[in-house]
Parts: sequence; structure tokens; C-alpha cells
Amino acid sequence: MRSLLVLFFLFSATNCYNFLVFCPLFGHSHTKFFATIADSLTDAGHNVTFFTPTIVQKYRNVNYTKTTRDVVHMEPSDKLIEYGNQMESGDFVRFWTEDSSATEIIPVIEIFYNMYNEQANVMKNNLELLDDLKRRNFDVIIFESYVFSAYRKFLSRLFSIVINIFSALMDYLNIKTFIPSLSVTHDVSLAKSIGEPTMASVVSDVCSPFGDKLNIIERAFNAFSAPYIDFMLGYPKYRSFKPPHNFIDIRVIEPRASFVFLNSNPFVDFPRPTLTKTIEIGGISVDISELRSQKVDEKWSSVLNLRPKTLLLSFGSVLFSKDMPLENKKAIASAMKTFKNVTFIWKYEEDNTDEFAKDVENIQFVKWVPQTALLADSRLSAFFTHAGLGSINEVSYLGKPAILCPLFADQMRNAKMLARHNGSIEFSKYDLSDSKKIAEVFRNILFDHKYQENSEMLAEQLENQPIKPKELMVKHAEFAAR
Ligand SMILES: *[C@@H]1O[C@H](CO)[C@@H](O)[C@H](O)[C@H]1NC(C)=O
Ligand SMILES: *[C@@H]1O[C@H](CO)[C@@H](O)[C@H](O)[C@H]1NC(C)=O
Ligand SMILES: *[C@@H]1O[C@H](CO)[C@@H](O)[C@H](O)[C@H]1NC(C)=O
Ligand SMILES: *[C@@H]1O[C@H](CO)[C@@H](O)[C@H](O)[C@H]1NC(C)=O
Repeated sequence: MRSLLVLFFLFSATNCYNFLVFCPLFGHSHTKFFATIADSLTDAGHNVTFFTPTIVQKYRNVNYTKTTRDVVHMEPSDKLIEYGNQMESGDFVRFWTEDSSATEIIPVIEIFYNMYNEQANVMKNNLELLDDLKRRNFDVIIFESYVFSAYRKFLSRLFSIVINIFSALMDYLNIKTFIPSLSVTHDVSLAKSIGEPTMASVVSDVCSPFGDKLNIIERAFNAFSAPYIDFMLGYPKYRSFKPPHNFIDIRVIEPRASFVFLNSNPFVDFPRPTLTKTIEIGGISVDISELRSQKVDEKWSSVLNLRPKTLLLSFGSVLFSKDMPLENKKAIASAMKTFKNVTFIWKYEEDNTDEFAKDVENIQFVKWVPQTALLADSRLSAFFTHAGLGSINEVSYLGKPAILCPLFADQMRNAKMLARHNGSIEFSKYDLSDSKKIAEVFRNILFDHKYQENSEMLAEQLENQPIKPKELMVKHAEFAAR
């Protein structure tokens, strides 16, 4: 074993490459995904620079990378701070009660659009920092080409802008090899741009709510929306940061991508045809041995010991339980009240719980939960979640039955994707005011053993995946660099 390790390091030392991982700092889960990529490459012995210009300031002091030391920040302009604040305070509350359809999401997209435009300006005004980066002679740039493509009409504008910032950066830093990546599972426009068959009539796009069982209308919608909108919008061009400031046309550049890294896992996601260029590294952020080693403290341990079963309910960190309609809170609390032998841990961000849950003894309201440590504990029976991709990955790897209640964006697709494995149940947010339906889904997930068995089966498959996501990513990144 030791000689193998030595061999490994010798090998790495003679094949050390310079990687630039670029991820503007505006969203926790995006940055976490890219920081994991950076750390995995660092751990394999490469020189990695994590370039993360600040947009949303509250994340500025979070250390996203663990082993990657070369983290380069760039200060935002006042305007960029303003856009960051707008994004943070975005009017997401509406998604408790409304579809996250294209028209609903326009204001969010406009902020994105402005934000990336301004980010490009900030970079253009910081050429000294870029010159410093340029001296590091990067072999490869890995960056995020994030897009909600179901809203292509508006977002393809965003997408083009995003990717064109990268192309301008790549151009300025003179990096020839690049790997566009996604912190979500699938994006039709990225697939199209590398020449991958998209099969829109059977494979749902990232924000599509249809899953893999589409009726004729859904098929038509999925199949025709992309070409129609591409036709309507086309691709805007972006000017180079260096004189003579030529236009850079992404349609010429993007097909030359060495690989595309996606945050999807072939054992979880819907099956679909791909190219050898598409590398599915979903689950790379899940360190299963680290998760399993997490232990809840005594306080939490005693909560888990209160009753034979415990269910954790959390809607994540973008939409808050406190902001859902009062009738939903009442319905959830009254459903919980009927399960005397179950403790419910509810992540709830305010103290006004008497309004809807007075005298309900089996609910523990908490403002913060040690989510992964709880999920890793065998005394936790099930998880009620908003189906964000981070939570989806955690329950998949830890084999925990889940109720998936998606609220907006890619959560709809994520929920269908995991529910397909029969270890979890999808639940509509529009049924959150119906205490009978809520009680029924609680009963099913807590007392029907097949959910536990199926989720354990999936976890076992993931743990024994022939090539681990981290190894897959590192080997392909090295191959591209070479
Ligand atoms: C990686 O960094 C080290 C230390 O800064 C440097 O000596 C080495 O030349 C770098 N490797 C490459 C491939 O540039
Ligand atoms: C992040 O890292 C810096 C430098 O190593 C350290 O000073 C700081 O305390 C860390 N912050 C957190 C929140 O861990
Ligand atoms: C709760 O558990 C006790 C003891 O196991 C049992 O007698 C009782 O019927 C259970 N109550 C409900 C509502 O399931
Ligand atoms: C899930 O259950 C359905 C219906 O029983 C079955 O057809 C399907 O094969 C199951 N899926 C998996 C992944 O086991």
C-alpha cells in the first residue's frame, strides 16, 4: 500500500498542472461544488487557483476550499454589491404559492443578467489582478456555466453573458483548454452546444417539472421550446478585454471544450444518451466517510431518543418555513400532532410558533439543524426536504427515506429524479395546506418499510460505484491538461 502511495505521489509530482477554477461568489451550493473540484485537484498534487470574485458579501468570509490555499478574491463595485443584495433579498417567498414559471422568474433573471454584466466590468477594471493570474500560466480553466434552461427565453441571454465572461477571461489569460461545468444535473443548451443528443421528448431539462414520464403536451413543450427560443434570441457577442477588443463568438469556442463536468450521477439521474465528453461527477461533494463519522451532540441525541421515530423537516436556506402561508403551518402542525410516537424536528426561523402549534408536544422547533449529522444517525427515520440538489445527494448516499416537496428552479426535476428510485415520495407544495394528505405521506414514509429498503439499495449502489466521482473528475481534468 505504502509503495503504491509513493508511486502515486511520484507520478503526480512529475505531472503537475496548473488549474484555474473560476466561480463568482453568489450562491452557497455553486461555490461548494466548485471548491470541491478545486480541492480534489489540489489533493491530487496539482497547483490550483480558486478565483472567486465577490458578489454576495455575506459569503466572503466562508472558507469554501479546504486544501486549496491559492484563493483569489476580487472586490465588487458598489453596483455589483447592489445586485448581490437584490439577489439575496429576491422575492422568493412567492414560490410557496406560485409556479416558478418563466414569467414569475423574470425579475430574478434580470438581476442575474445585470450582475454578470457588471462582473465583467469589474474584471475589465482590474486588469492588474488578471495580469497576475496570467503569469501563473494555467493549463486548464474550469468554470460554471450555470443556467435554468427551462426559462430559456430569458435565460439564454443570461447563459450567453455568463459564458462570454468566461470566454473573455480565457482569452485574456490565454488559456487554451477549458471545461465548462454545471452545479446542476443537466442543461439542454450546454448539451446542444457540444453536439450531444438532447432527446427533449424523453429527457427533461434542468428546470422542467416533467421527469421521465411525459405526456404528449409535455413532450412537445420540452422538444420545441429550446429550438424556438434559440431562434428567437440568438447569441449576443462579448468583446475581448484586450485591444483591439475584438468580438468573441462563443458558438465558435464552446464546441472545443475538452470535457463538461455535470453535477449529476448516472446511477441517480434519468438515463439519457451522452457523449464521452460529458463527465457525470454528481456526488463529488458528498464525502461519505466524513458524513458517517459525524455525531450529533448530547442535546440532539436526547431529542432523537424522545420517541421511537423521528422525522426532520427543512426547506433549506433560500426559502424559509417562517414565510409559508399560515394555513400551511397549521395543516403541517395538525398532521404532526396525530403521530404521538414520532418526534418532528422542524427547521423554523422565528419564535411565533404558538400561532399554529400551541400544545403540540411532539414538535421541536429549531432555527438551525446539524442536517448531515442528523441524516447520518440511524435514529432519524425520514427527511422532509425541498429537494435542493445538495440534500438530494446527501439522502441518496446516506440511504434515508425522504418526502420531496420541491418549491422552485431545479428542485422539480431533482424530486422526480430521486422519487423514481422508490425510496422517497414526491409531495406537491400545493398540498401543504391539506393536513390529511400530509398525514398520509408521513404515515407512508415512516411505516412502509419499502422506502427504507429502496433508499438503502440506492445508497449501496452509490457507495460501490465502479469509478468514484472524484477519481473520474481528476483523471479527466489531468487528461485535458496533458
Ligand atoms: C506549482 O507551484 C510550485 C510552487 O509555487 C512551482 O514551483 C511549480 O513550478 C508549479 N508547477 C507548475 C507546473 O507550474
Ligand atoms: C478562513 O481561513 C482564514 C485563513 O486561513 C482564517 O484566518 C479564518 O479564520 C477562516 N475563517 C473561518 C470562518 O474558518
Ligand atoms: C405508541 O407506542 C405505544 C407503545 O409502543 C403504543 O402502545 C401506542 O399504541 C402507540 N401510539 C400510537 C398512536 O401509535
Ligand atoms: C419503482 O417502482 C415501480 C412500480 O412498482 C417499478 O416499476 C420500478 O421498476 C421501481 N424502480 C426502481 C428503480 O426500483
